[in-house]
Amino acid sequence: MRILRTVMPHKFQLLAVLAFGLAVLVIENQIRKIDESREILERTVARHKVAAVEQRRGGQVTSSLSQAEDVVVIYNRVPKTASTSFTNIAYDLCGKNRFHVLHINTSKNNPVLSLQDQARPLVRFVHNVTSWQEMKPAFYHGHVAYLDFSKYGVEGKPTYVNVVRDPIERLVSYYYFLRFGDDYRPGLRRRKQGDKKTFDECVAAGGPDCAPEKLWLQIPFFCGHHSECWNVGSRWALEEAKANLVREYLLVGLTEELEDFVMILEAVLPRFFKGASQLYRTGKKSHLRKTTEKKPPAEETITKLHQSDIWKMENEFYEFAQEQFQFVRAHAVREKDGELFVLAQSFFYEKIYPKVS
Ligand SMILES: *[C@@H]1O[C@H](CO)[C@@H](O)[C@H](O)[C@H]1NC(C)=O
Ligand SMILES: *[C@@H]1O[C@H](CO)[C@@H](O)[C@H](O)[C@H]1NC(C)=O
Repeated sequence: MRILRTVMPHKFQLLAVLAFGLAVLVIENQIRKIDESREILERTVARHKVAAVEQRRGGQVTSSLSQAEDVVVIYNRVPKTASTSFTNIAYDLCGKNRFHVLHINTSKNNPVLSLQDQARPLVRFVHNVTSWQEMKPAFYHGHVAYLDFSKYGVEGKPTYVNVVRDPIERLVSYYYFLRFGDDYRPGLRRRKQGDKKTFDECVAAGGPDCAPEKLWLQIPFFCGHHSECWNVGSRWALEEAKANLVREYLLVGLTEELEDFVMILEAVLPRFFKGASQLYRTGKKSHLRKTTEKKPPAEETITKLHQSDIWKMENEFYEFAQEQFQFVRAHAVREKDGELFVLAQSFFYEKIYPKVS
């Protein structure tokens, strides 16, 4: 009896354990089935997602193709930096390379646009340039100060390029240009025509047309549309101009080394400048615009201008641009037998995982 009592509960216990084990198995099986269906569902969802992403990416491929056609280049040229020579290359190439060239003619050659001219939606400069599809790809040039497009909430910034020149050389060139014009439009009457005073005489007499304030031009052109940019001698303007030069400009060349500028630009923007170096080399004369009657300034004239703080700042900016250009050039071209060559692609990808079988 005693044995039975102990055996009986043992039997029940065994049965209970068995039933419990069975129930666990059944439940586990159900869970596995649910898990399996969930996995199937997840895989299906993932496949749909991938398909959607790929479809979108396919769209992006087409839109990035048209992006190459969507380029707008702005050359906000500083007066008397041999800018016409470079602009003429663009005019000579636009037919063959299929892009548009547009001159931004501001009234009275004022390099600062009014706020409504800059930004009034749809009609004025920023929106007009970015949305004028029929003109793209487009090369705009004109004597306008740097304008920050991102400030106006438009999509796609233009590509800025420019050329700078030794500040005294530039002023001397401008001085004689106002008096004698150039061989480009020889018949045109100039503002100071008839004034026979040389640049040296002007500096010696402290005349207004050769005053150090007149040197303040490349800094404000690169600085832009802020009041402080046009505050002659402003250190802030100088720093802003430097920052824009390296951050906002694709390439800034030097008048003194225009051929190298054209060559690098051709390598960077072939869509516009394919054939430019060749054209520049063969047609050097036709692309050069010379101010007639230009007399180089005397030593004492230069020494006198060097004493001005305005010259020191404009010169600091010019040297900054020079160093940057030479740095870019050193990494872009090599000289061989007296000729320059653009370097081929010098990077490649490796260790691309997962492997494509
Ligand atoms: C620019 O426009 C003015 C009129 O606003 C005109 O007199 C001048 O000739 C134009 N300049 C050029 C280079 O076409
Ligand atoms: C841009 O301006 C020009 C001339 O003012 C005009 O003919 C053209 O339709 C404008 N384009 C856009 C997209 O607004």
